[in-house]
Amino acid sequence: MSVPQVARKIATAIPGPKSQALEEEHKQYVSAGVGQLMPVFAESASGATITDVDGNRFIDLASGIAVTGVGNCAPEVVKAVQDEVAKLTHTNFATTPYANYIEVCKKLAEHTPGDFAKKSVLVNSGAEAVENAIKIARKYTGRSAVVVMENAFHGRTNLTMAMTTKSMPYKQGFGAFAPDIYRVPFSYPLRDGFGSDGAAAAKAAAAKIELLVGHENVAAIIAEPVQGEGGFIVPAPGFLSGLADWAHEHDVLYISDEIQAGFCRTGKWFACEYDGVTPDLITTAKALGGGMPIAAVTGRAEIMDSVQAGGIGGTYGGNPVSCASALAAVKLMEDKGLPARAAHIGELADAALKPLVDELDTVAEVRGLGAMIGIEFVKPGSLEPNKELVGRIAKRTVQEGLIVLTCGINGNVIRLLPTLTITDEEFGEALDVLKEIITEESAK
Ligand SMILES: Cc1ncc(COP(=O)(O)O)c(C=O)c1O
Repeated sequence: MSVPQVARKIATAIPGPKSQALEEEHKQYVSAGVGQLMPVFAESASGATITDVDGNRFIDLASGIAVTGVGNCAPEVVKAVQDEVAKLTHTNFATTPYANYIEVCKKLAEHTPGDFAKKSVLVNSGAEAVENAIKIARKYTGRSAVVVMENAFHGRTNLTMAMTTKSMPYKQGFGAFAPDIYRVPFSYPLRDGFGSDGAAAAKAAAAKIELLVGHENVAAIIAEPVQGEGGFIVPAPGFLSGLADWAHEHDVLYISDEIQAGFCRTGKWFACEYDGVTPDLITTAKALGGGMPIAAVTGRAEIMDSVQAGGIGGTYGGNPVSCASALAAVKLMEDKGLPARAAHIGELADAALKPLVDELDTVAEVRGLGAMIGIEFVKPGSLEPNKELVGRIAKRTVQEGLIVLTCGINGNVIRLLPTLTITDEEFGEALDVLKEIITEESAK
């Protein structure tokens, strides 16, 4: 590796001896069903780097799957959590409410698209937010069918498994699945035949909905504005807005699942804003909490109020410590102008990585919005997905001090989700390392 270690520090073989010892216990005590990217155990993290138990320092291009957008252990978030936990650990909002839950709902109303009265419910995880959004949509419309997108990922609970496309590992052996879910094609400019004509792709999807279920039965359409686990697929302009317009013509609710793409990641507060979409309901999680678990459904007040008291919520949803963390994280996003920072990160990535499409016959596309960047790999001279190459690249990146995730319905996409506070120097070092690995592994 020719790139000097500045932000990175490789002190041992990867994984180092302490990680290897922990890996033995991991194997003995943790369910094999819990996935693991690499047997490297974290000890501490700061900003854009994570240090492992052996003293190796990695540049974090995963942000805990798009969670630590404001940076790992951002001091403002740490302080807010420490202060809050000394005052309230938990009361349950329905039993003894507290102010910072309302403050988070205010921030959600302020930053989500739509110039109308909005309300929220706070929950614990992304899947729980999606489940609640569907419950609310069904209650409001009195209809039961739900339209989802091909390649979608919405979670691991029973309903969200049914809404997710990929069987292995998310659904394999876990059926029966929740009924009344209908899947239609998502715009995938590289592969769907519609290319940049998003409006045509939306028309085709709408026609399929009519064929499969009929609009009068549909409670909601739900779409990720940039597909996450499905492959960091950015739909062509006009696709999401075409679907949302179709939904509204037929009194179908439009839900934007912004759990991965939301809260500044793509260069705007919410990714659906790129296509001028105003969702009726929006699901958020991950970056909202700045590292603590919290998720939300936010939507038009009359839709959110259609549910009977006690019908949504739960024991832990909107825990006060998570709310304090979320408020500190959102304040950092506002104060540091993180949407613009994410856009800048996207420009740096484009400048470094897009030339690879012409230089290498293994790179089909470098795509993304802001700091949500995907590189799709294929077998030379074809569009056949190249999962094996992605596996080798991912393994090498860890050994060279980067934390990088893969994704894609065919497992052939490298995805980058750096913290939005990463410096240009740190990100530049990471991009240089990644480019060198991609070039070397592609030549093998
Ligand atoms: C778009 C989207 N929806 C839902 C989820 C599920 O979130 P969680 O893992 O918090 O349940 C994810 C998780 O990656 C996601 O990316």
